[in-house]
Formats: sequence, structure tokens, C-alpha cells
Amino acid sequence: MMCPNAMKPSEYPIEALRADFTILSREIYGRPLVYLDNTATTQTPRQVVERIEEMYYSHKANVHRGVHTLSQEATSLLEDTRRRVAGFINASTPEEVIFTRGTTEAINLVAASYGSLLSEGDEVILSVMEHHANIVPWQLLRDRRGIVIKVIPMDERGVLDMEAYRSLFTDRTRVVSVTHVSNVLGTVNPVREIVDEAHRHGAVAVIDGAQAVAHLKVDVQAIGADFYAFSSHKMYGPCGVGVLYGRKDLLEKMPPWQGGGEMIKTVTFEHTEFADLPFKFEAGTPDFVDIAALHTAIDYMERVGIEAIAAHEEHLLQYTTERMVAIPRMRLFGTAPHKSAIISFLIGNSHHYDTGMLLDKLGIAVRTGHHCAQPLMHSLGITGTVRASFALYNTIEECDRFIAALQRVAPMLE
Ligand code: ALA
Repeated sequence: MMCPNAMKPSEYPIEALRADFTILSREIYGRPLVYLDNTATTQTPRQVVERIEEMYYSHKANVHRGVHTLSQEATSLLEDTRRRVAGFINASTPEEVIFTRGTTEAINLVAASYGSLLSEGDEVILSVMEHHANIVPWQLLRDRRGIVIKVIPMDERGVLDMEAYRSLFTDRTRVVSVTHVSNVLGTVNPVREIVDEAHRHGAVAVIDGAQAVAHLKVDVQAIGADFYAFSSHKMYGPCGVGVLYGRKDLLEKMPPWQGGGEMIKTVTFEHTEFADLPFKFEAGTPDFVDIAALHTAIDYMERVGIEAIAAHEEHLLQYTTERMVAIPRMRLFGTAPHKSAIISFLIGNSHHYDTGMLLDKLGIAVRTGHHCAQPLMHSLGITGTVRASFALYNTIEECDRFIAALQRVAPMLE
């Protein structure tokens, strides 16, 4: 498709990319759709949809269970994807890649399984900008085991207070679990520094990568993460698939969290011997159809080039932000120097829902509400925001349409 490293902005093949996403040619209320809800889910290119279709038409058979050709094919497609994912995030072995239903399930797996090794009074550090998926599983663990949850605060730009972070450690700190990129503020957190500090205190580091993998280069070994979680549907892949990367030595000492077929070696009524990694954590028939299509989504992103995508989105972010701040009564939430292409805002004291409804009538899809980050909203003293978020297929013309729509709706709002 192109040579990403040498690509200039004018060479970014935006029209060719957009042609792969049929939904982008839809009209909403008679206007061209401007899809700016990519943080909630990205759209899916035809190559991924065709892969799903092909899996159902030609390769559907249960995996790891049959001697017959179809089953062997389906198994190798699943395991090829595991290797592809391992390479994509630079895991040291495919055994460190566990397939889940999504980021939420991946974090629940860690909280349930690694969490079962914790004792009453052990401490887990989270940050104020976490998604509920990285808060509630730890609260469930707190209710079961009496762990203590501590929270890293942030400044008014949405930058984590690293001094406060360092002061939260005690000799009972066991886990630090933070997001790589805030789904509300766009802040890209200094995960390497966060992980290093956790390791200095003998704690493990869990990184929620849901908003990172499709927008910046992720290398789990360079970050030093012990666990890293992400979702296929936020990276141009199908819904219902996620990944938990876990360091092999940690996964080996963790107990299974769900029981059933696939995760066992032998079963008697007296005793079960569990399967080796990664199967120990994959009870039941995995979603091998969508997992195979995740492979296609990764191929797609890598053909464009993660660096090229990041540069394109950064351009959209700068362009849009500069024009938004010129709109009277515009309030932006999240102005960290290192930001992903996510813009949360309110117009004066108007309700986020009203802004979102008016934008929808103009064909602009944005998310409104608390974005599954109610503690962050409380800390900002608001109930929600409007959020525009960008992906590899958004254009400067769409940014212009979004800005024009904001200029039109702003005077209608209190
Ligand atoms: N986590 C997704 C979002 O932030 C759903 O919109």
C-alpha cells in the first residue's frame, strides 16, 4: 500500500483507506457521516469482514479438538494469530498471549487470578483516569480479599502526578494498574516510568492498552509491562475478541480463573491437571473466527504503518484543537503535552447530551456521557463530556465539518 517510514502527510493514502470502510460512505439525516467515536469502537475494513465471511464459508471447525483437516486448519489459523499478536506487541513468546473477549475480560482475568495470590491488606495502585474496567475488577477483589486500593491523582491538564504516585508505595504494594492512554483525556501516560517504579517496589504492573494499540507503537518488553490488555474492536478488528499479554513466569504461577474444556490435561472427579500456557487461561471454545480476523486487522494496520497512522492522527488532533479553542465558551478537558487524538469538551455549562444530539443531526457521531470513567468525572467536577476521537481514516475535511457544526450548535446551547 505504501512505504510508511518515508511517508509525507501528502502521501498518506487517505482515499484508498476510506474506500475500505464501506460505512464511511453512509449518510445520517441526509448528510455525510463524520465518524468521530473511534475511542468507543473503530470501524472495520472490508478485508476483515471478508476474512470473517471466509472463515464461516470455508474454515469453520472447532479448534484443538479434531484430527480432521478442517479442525487442523482452524487450529492453525488461531495459532497463527497468536504468533502474529506476539510479534505485533513484541511478546517474547506466543505463550504469553491469552485470547479473551476484550480488555475488560483481560483485566478481570488478572484481578481474579493474580489477585487470588494477594492477601488482606495488600495494596493495588490505580489512577484517577481509569476506565471502570480497570477499577471495578479490583473492587471485586477488595470485597473478596480485603485488599486496599490507592489512586494516583492528576493535574489540571490531565497529567498524572508522578511525585504523588511515588509516595503511594508501601511495603504492601503488590500491583500497579494504569491505562496507557486515557479514553477521556487522551493523555499518553509515561508507562515505562510507571512500570519501573512498580518494579523498584517489587510490584507487578498491569497496563490497560485499549486506547493505545491502534494509535501508537506498543512494545510490551520495552515498556516492561507484566500484563498488557487490549481489544480487537478498537483496532479495526471484530468485536468479541481481546488479548491479555502476561509475562510467562507470572502466568505460570497464576491459577486458572475459569474451568472447562481446552484448559485441562486430564480430569477425574478427584482431580484436574491443567493445560500448559496459554491454554490454561482459555476455557471453552475460543472465538476462532474473529481471532483469525484480528490477524487481518493487524496486517491492515501494519501495511499502513503505525507510525504513519500516529502522524496522521496527530495532525488531525492539532488541526482540530487549534480551531476548537477559538470557539466561544469552549471548555477542553485534557491538555497533556503528550496526547492521543481524543478531544473531550463541553460548551459553556450546556449538557453534553444536548451537544451530542445536535451534532448527530448534522451527521457527526461523537460520544457523550461519563465514558465509563465516573471517578474521573467526579474529579473534574462534571457529569460527562462530549468526546471526539479520531482514527486512521478521518480527514481534514471531516475536521472542518466538525468545527463548522460546533460553530453552528454552540450559540443554540446555554
Ligand atoms: N471504552 C469505550 C469508550 O471509552 C467504550 O468509549
